Amino acid sequence: MNIVVLTGAGISAESGISTFRAADGLWEKHRIEDVASPEGFLRDPSLVHDFYNRRRAQLHLVAPNPAHLALAALERAWQGRGNFLLLTQNVDDLHERAGSRVLLHMHGELRKLVCASCGETCHWLDDAGVETLCPACGAAAMRPDIVWFGEIPYYMDEIVAALDEADVFCAIGTSGVVYPAAGFAAEARRNGRNCLLYEINPTPTGGHVFDHVIAAPASQGVPEFLRRLGVEEAA
Ligand code: APR
Repeated sequence: MNIVVLTGAGISAESGISTFRAADGLWEKHRIEDVASPEGFLRDPSLVHDFYNRRRAQLHLVAPNPAHLALAALERAWQGRGNFLLLTQNVDDLHERAGSRVLLHMHGELRKLVCASCGETCHWLDDAGVETLCPACGAAAMRPDIVWFGEIPYYMDEIVAALDEADVFCAIGTSGVVYPAAGFAAEARRNGRNCLLYEINPTPTGGHVFDHVIAAPASQGVPEFLRRLGVEEAA
């Protein structure tokens, strides 16, 4: 049995990272077109670097919560039982710090920069700015390695292939308004394997597509999802 899990900002909310669309969320405080679009970066690269520098620095202050840990336990427990893939729209590194290994960051990563000149990516833990030089080619053309609005998410071929083989799909902590991720549940449903669709969200999105809705915060909902799969978290 193959499992695909999709996470969004809600899974990191209990670790203290703001979601995007809550009343006090990131998009209430910042204009998307200023800090999350290629045009915004062209207009004012320093403002964009500052926005991501602050978010990168925040990673030092937060830690994985029980939901991240439960997904890492599920991955370990599932070895030998089928494929397991964790897709995240999140750019924080809490999944890997919790122990997840089979993980695709479809919207990029805060702890990486990409060179607009040569295309190389590099790990980056500190602040970055317009003066930051590419370790590969030396150009002062680094940008956060974040997929902005209007750009194509990473790993789409692998994601489509995994959805095609999925028997269980679970969306956790995502509002389901940003495509293509918002269409993954429907895509899994169409794969001809009677894929079971779960949603975990304290404020369920109301998408009729889901078979099972666990209306709880991720820290409780994900352990409940594991119980329903018959997985012991300590595994
Ligand atoms: N546990 C689970 N879900 C939660 C929790 C929690 N403790 N707290 C909030 N949520 C849910 C909210 O109910 C909401 O449905 O998390 C969801 C967060 O939604 P968004 O803020 O829209 O975040 P997300 O869906 O990840 O956004 C998708 O939009 O701006 C872009 O690129 C950005 O990756 C992001 C994408």
